[in-house]
Amino acid sequence: MKAVILAGGSGTRLSPFTKIINKHLLPVGSYPMIYWPIKRLKQAGINEILIVTNEEDLVSFKKVLGAGEELGVILSYTIQKEKGKGIANALNCAKDFVDDKFVVLLGDNLFDDDLSPYLEDFKKEKYEAKVLLKEVKDPKRYGIAFIDEIKHTIISIIEKPKNPISKYCVTGIYFYDRNVFGLIQSLSPSKRGELEITDLNNLYINRNELNYDILKGWWLDAGTHEALFEANKHFFEGE
Ligand code: DAU
Repeated sequence: MKAVILAGGSGTRLSPFTKIINKHLLPVGSYPMIYWPIKRLKQAGINEILIVTNEEDLVSFKKVLGAGEELGVILSYTIQKEKGKGIANALNCAKDFVDDKFVVLLGDNLFDDDLSPYLEDFKKEKYEAKVLLKEVKDPKRYGIAFIDEIKHTIISIIEKPKNPISKYCVTGIYFYDRNVFGLIQSLSPSKRGELEITDLNNLYINRNELNYDILKGWWLDAGTHEALFEANKHFFEGE
């Protein structure tokens, strides 16, 4: 199985640092942020990884990570030409890289779970897509899933809800197959002008093709100053 890490966007919540450096290259512990999701993929036996990023940041990524030799993985890169046009837009840039079922990680999502069991389940499942959820204290910040725990189904996902009806955040760990690129074609930009991953996942819900699991261990979206501090604490203490 191959994996795609999305590492574009503007990182405005981590300004002013992100005016000069891509968010995913900011330090977390003794490494750049993106090192940690790569490490989780490697742990799950995934060696072929595509990084999607902005044109202006490509040189920095290559300087820091190269072709993945030091990390023991095979890295390749592609550019999201329409900078900041959304997570689903960034994902679409991976069309020529993936073959069948694959994993997508948001490069600012840091977590302790080993991905192997989720991967193995997804390989066997009949579903075309799967998301990993995590209970959070601040649901207004995320895509939030309304689930039926008895039937084990997601009823709907709402992006950054004003009045959240659940505490289950859809983390930036997604599993898809090649059909995803056809579905992305049918998306329209949201009010903020982005192709939204939540709209994409809701298309799967409408087709009864979205499965879910719940992450067991520590998880964090490191996209704010407070969260970046938390992430540093976590990894320094762990190290
Ligand atoms: O962390 C989980 C959350 O991530 C989910 O619960 C939300 O449903 C999802 O929309 C996303 O929310 P954020 O507000 O955190 O998204 P953000 O704009 O920070 O982008 C997340 C990652 O996606 C970031 O690490 C870079 C990548 N990205 C983002 C955009 C908008 C791209 O590569 N290209 C883009 O155009």
